[in-house]
Amino acid sequence: MSDPVTVVSDRLRPVFAEVSGRADADPVVRPSDRADAQANGALALAKQVGTNPRELAERIVTRLDETGVLADVCSGVEIAGPGFLNLTFHDHFLARELSSVASDPRLGVVPVASPRTAVVDYSAPNVAKEMHVGHLRSTVIGDALVRMLEFAGHRVIRENHIGDWGRPFGMLIEHLLDIGEDAAAEGLSQGDLDGFYKAANAKFAADEGFQERARERVVLLQAGDAVTHELWDRLVAMSTAYFNTVYRQLGVLLTDHDIVGESVYQPLMAGTIERLEASGLLTESDGAKVVFPPGFTNREGDPLPLIIQARTGGFNYATSDLTCVIDRVERLGADLLLYVVGAPQQQHLQMVFEVATMAGWLQPPAEAVHVSFGNVLGADRKMLRSRSGEAVKLVELLDEAVERAAAAVDEKNPDLPDAQRSEVARMIGIGAVKYADLSNDRIKDYVFDWDRMLSFDGNTAPYLQYAHARIRSIFRRAGADPIAAAAAPIMLDEPHERTLAKRLLAYPSVLDDTLSSYSPHKLCTYLFEVAQDFTAFYEHCPVLRADHETVRVSRLALCAVTAGTIAHGLGLLGIDAPEQM
Ligand code: ARG
Repeated sequence: MSDPVTVVSDRLRPVFAEVSGRADADPVVRPSDRADAQANGALALAKQVGTNPRELAERIVTRLDETGVLADVCSGVEIAGPGFLNLTFHDHFLARELSSVASDPRLGVVPVASPRTAVVDYSAPNVAKEMHVGHLRSTVIGDALVRMLEFAGHRVIRENHIGDWGRPFGMLIEHLLDIGEDAAAEGLSQGDLDGFYKAANAKFAADEGFQERARERVVLLQAGDAVTHELWDRLVAMSTAYFNTVYRQLGVLLTDHDIVGESVYQPLMAGTIERLEASGLLTESDGAKVVFPPGFTNREGDPLPLIIQARTGGFNYATSDLTCVIDRVERLGADLLLYVVGAPQQQHLQMVFEVATMAGWLQPPAEAVHVSFGNVLGADRKMLRSRSGEAVKLVELLDEAVERAAAAVDEKNPDLPDAQRSEVARMIGIGAVKYADLSNDRIKDYVFDWDRMLSFDGNTAPYLQYAHARIRSIFRRAGADPIAAAAAPIMLDEPHERTLAKRLLAYPSVLDDTLSSYSPHKLCTYLFEVAQDFTAFYEHCPVLRADHETVRVSRLALCAVTAGTIAHGLGLLGIDAPEQM
């Protein structure tokens, strides 16, 4: 309970309730430029109980004076406008709250009272296909959400729902046999997955004999033929090895343990169909088994079916996702299912969720959320492509990020020792790519712009990393340890100190807000504000050359909490904060 806005809100609530006679009264407290915070609740309340808002506000203020509930936290409560309360925090209240945060490794963030079991479905590339920038977005956003959920105290299960099943595997396996394993491994491990796929496809189109073999191979695969399964396994292993290269380069948490591909659900799907049948939801349409969830229509306004089993008997993507819902809820005991998947799959997922709800598999408190995201665009505002017009290879993209960051580091700090330089370049380059993605509202498309994301100015990873490293250098110069420094008594006499302190104290609320909307950009915006407030503070308030020792140690404590908050916030986004850069 460190955020002063929350503290004040909690104290005002019963007084608002008592005076208005409404048990559910909300004081509606927000940070404000007029004072430190403003409570606007009297307006809506007055309407509800049919009185004048200003009068209600006056009665509340009288009651606050009588009870003294705000006495130790607010130095001023003033009525403004039609009945707002402008609240000014006591300096010593802010200082006390900040001191308690300063010595808390969790920076004032209290673990959730009722932890949930969350499955986060993210990354999910397809075997023998290039991982595209959409998978990059899913990987980066999903990984940040995993870190935040874990930190908040939830039980988190990562699932990488790779596309490792389906008809194309017949032709892919035959192609693997044709070119030999070494050649296949060479292409696939270099990330030339599209090349492999295209070659198989071209043969399939041109060669009837190959077509026949591919079809037979699918049948063998589905029948569980041992040799075929072994070949399939190798194909999957070559692709996942490539995915792992990207994951390691990115520094995300995903490992082979998190892979739960579409193939896993194949043997369970007959059971799903039986259960749908038993629930009476399944109908026939054009020879296929389908469910019509209400509220979904096609362009002509006709009801839209979710196809469960095709006329040919094959199962669908939807069937695997429905089976997957059952598995997550019933086997894993999950009550929060997050799908970090691009916007084009919105309708598919909404229909799956609806059918799972109708079938009774997805019932409160369990809920499924599509954490949707927009596209990555090139400078031409079209889908990002490589120079040759192909899909961008992620490995190359990330290598380029690190190279560009290395050049920037050389320019910024030519004296950095070699060993450190490459490490710092990696942190900055990868951090820049991740942050560019996370700092944009995920729903929107964003333009991939090297110069902007690597800039040391503006809302970028390098700016935040630099702000952090600069504070660490203050401690190096002072020969002081930030952890010890954080324990010093804090005084907030200067306006810039106060502004920074209030910002730092908002961290728990910001994390709450970020997580409840699954919107990492909110945390990014906040960290940017912290860094800006720090810059203003540092310009106006000398730290190492402060006039008095008490001021010096207090300001060092402020520096310590600031650096700690930036590093911690970046950490939750999956971004490293170098000590020096
Ligand atoms: N493999 C899919 C793709 O590349 C994404 C899978 C998302 N997860 C899911 N449960 N459907 O588009």
